[in-house]
Amino acid sequence: MNIFIKNTIVLAILSTCCYGLVDIEKYLKVCDRNSAEVNDCLTEAVQEGLAALADGIEEIGVPPIDPYRQKDLRIEYKNNQILAKLVAKDIYVEGLKTATVHDARLRADDDRFHLELDLTTPRVNIRGQYLGEGRYNSLQIKAHGHFSTNMTNLVYTWKLDGVPEKNENGTFVRITDFYMRPDVGSMKSHLTNDNPDSRDLTELGNRFTNQNWRLLYRELLPYAQANWNKIGISVANKIFLKITYDQLFPSKS
Ligand SMILES: *[C@@H]1O[C@H](CO)[C@@H](O)[C@H](O)[C@H]1NC(C)=O
Ligand SMILES: *[C@@H]1O[C@H](CO)[C@@H](O)[C@H](O)[C@H]1NC(C)=O
Repeated sequence: MNIFIKNTIVLAILSTCCYGLVDIEKYLKVCDRNSAEVNDCLTEAVQEGLAALADGIEEIGVPPIDPYRQKDLRIEYKNNQILAKLVAKDIYVEGLKTATVHDARLRADDDRFHLELDLTTPRVNIRGQYLGEGRYNSLQIKAHGHFSTNMTNLVYTWKLDGVPEKNENGTFVRITDFYMRPDVGSMKSHLTNDNPDSRDLTELGNRFTNQNWRLLYRELLPYAQANWNKIGISVANKIFLKITYDQLFPSKS
């Protein structure tokens, strides 16, 4: 066999087979889970990690996180006489790489994993396409177009929970829960509407949204949180289920 083909096959096997061989320290600083300075170490590791993860880590299949692209999101909102259905597509969330990590708190033992990270982000932009349908009593509105939202001064804590589990490749932490509830300094949104029948209402809707953003943010937070929980678990497990617990959080001491 041609030496080039042979090498290619060997490389292909090596790069798809043994996750244990991924040299994670190439991408992420790792921290001794039993060290007295583990929280300081993690604060720094996650700060550097955000920059490394911004463009994703192709080798282990971690998607780019800044901008993070979500294919779609469906929301159905009901409140007294109001019924709204929203499908958002091609959503981009941009700004995470400008986050500052302030503190980390790790509780990692043999049967439980819990990590809290305090972060702030100066500005986040969320944009995409939407298709919306709203009903207020007998009034029905349909709209579609683009949306853009800018949030500033976000203050939040990521809480990750997981359980170590063993499989044939070693012991891994499976992240089972991801939680955050950002405090937001300001929020400004803009919708365009390509539906001529409801276009007149769009500016009214935009004004209402921007004047009442705190109320709307609070109302929509549970939907956003359910979405973040799903994304957080999925992205975290792209790392946690591929790098063994002892590689990611060695216990040297
Ligand atoms: C163990 O590693 C192999 C090779 O990378 C992979 O195909 C398999 O899915 C892994 N097993 C589990 C349970 O993740
Ligand atoms: C959000 O910020 C971007 C970049 O500064 C800007 O282009 C966009 O128009 C802003 N959107 C809103 C709704 O203010």
